Amino acid sequence: MSETESRNSTAQPEQRVTTTGESSEEVREEWTDYEFAGDAKIAAEDLDVYYGEEKALQSVSLDVPDESVTALIGPSGCGKSTFLRCLNRMNDRIKSASVDGSVTLDGEEIYSDGVNLVELRKRVGMVFQEPNPFPKSIKDNISYGPRKHGDLDTGLLARLLGRDDTDEEHELVERALRRAALWEEVNDRLDDNALGLSGGQQQRLCIARCLAVDPDVILMDEPASALDPIATAKIEDLIEELAEEYAVVVVTHNMQQAARISDQTAVFLTGGELVEYGETDQIFEHPRSQRVEDYITGKFG
Ligand SMILES: Nc1ncnc2c1ncn2[C@@H]1O[C@H](COP(=O)(O)OP(=O)(O)O)[C@@H](O)[C@H]1O
Ligand SMILES: [Mg+2]
Repeated sequence: MSETESRNSTAQPEQRVTTTGESSEEVREEWTDYEFAGDAKIAAEDLDVYYGEEKALQSVSLDVPDESVTALIGPSGCGKSTFLRCLNRMNDRIKSASVDGSVTLDGEEIYSDGVNLVELRKRVGMVFQEPNPFPKSIKDNISYGPRKHGDLDTGLLARLLGRDDTDEEHELVERALRRAALWEEVNDRLDDNALGLSGGQQQRLCIARCLAVDPDVILMDEPASALDPIATAKIEDLIEELAEEYAVVVVTHNMQQAARISDQTAVFLTGGELVEYGETDQIFEHPRSQRVEDYITGKFG
């Protein structure tokens, strides 16, 4: 049976008319129920997010596998960043935001009372659209996190105690910069201010900073949308490499980028709904939702 026949043979999704008069389809659970081998690294269940009275996410459930790239796509304002921020409780920092539902990391609830948020954000690191290095040296950008988490002893107290691990610091800095494909470009100026780097280098530095604390999951919110095509290609290559070791979740509004770099894709549509989630090839080649097909083929969004 051909692809078209098999799709036509399934009953057409129910259409309903919304209050604004537009026709929309009922989301089917099986469209978002993507099954993969192994356990979820991070899993959201029935997540609702409100900003004040405004609902920004509608009961989103999504399981993210380890060691792969999960892309989140959808038109602007559909809740991609909101969802991403739920995965390391960054929405906690937004006063008007309230989050209801569950997120587990390796099976453990991150929304329980008493969860250490500093530790959580070390395990679930985040890279933003605009590179945001600290106005410090390249080296200090990398060693800041490990030092804060007590994995490096080069502070004053450590020196008083006779533990100045500068070799360890150097090793750690080199390792993180190598993994972020930046070492070759900056190893002769580690003490220079990070703000002197190009945008693409700054973004790779932010990725290196995230890797330096040895995370489990890396969240990226449109990490290449402020970069030129060459810098973007480098970030894309890097994301694919990182997926050999980490669960990487990437928000992008660039569908070609999602198709190039991701293993699975989740499509959010207006109103904070997760409409479809599945293997990237399936989503782009034969989406099950008509609205997803319209979005991917550029009919709206
Ligand atoms: N800090 C905030 N305060 C109030 N509303 C917000 C905030 N962040 C996002 N929103 C609203 O939530 C909805 C989803 O936004 P967002 O998650 O940023 O979407 P996306 O990343 O897909 O563009 C939008 O309607 C947006 O205006
Ligand atoms: Mg966003």
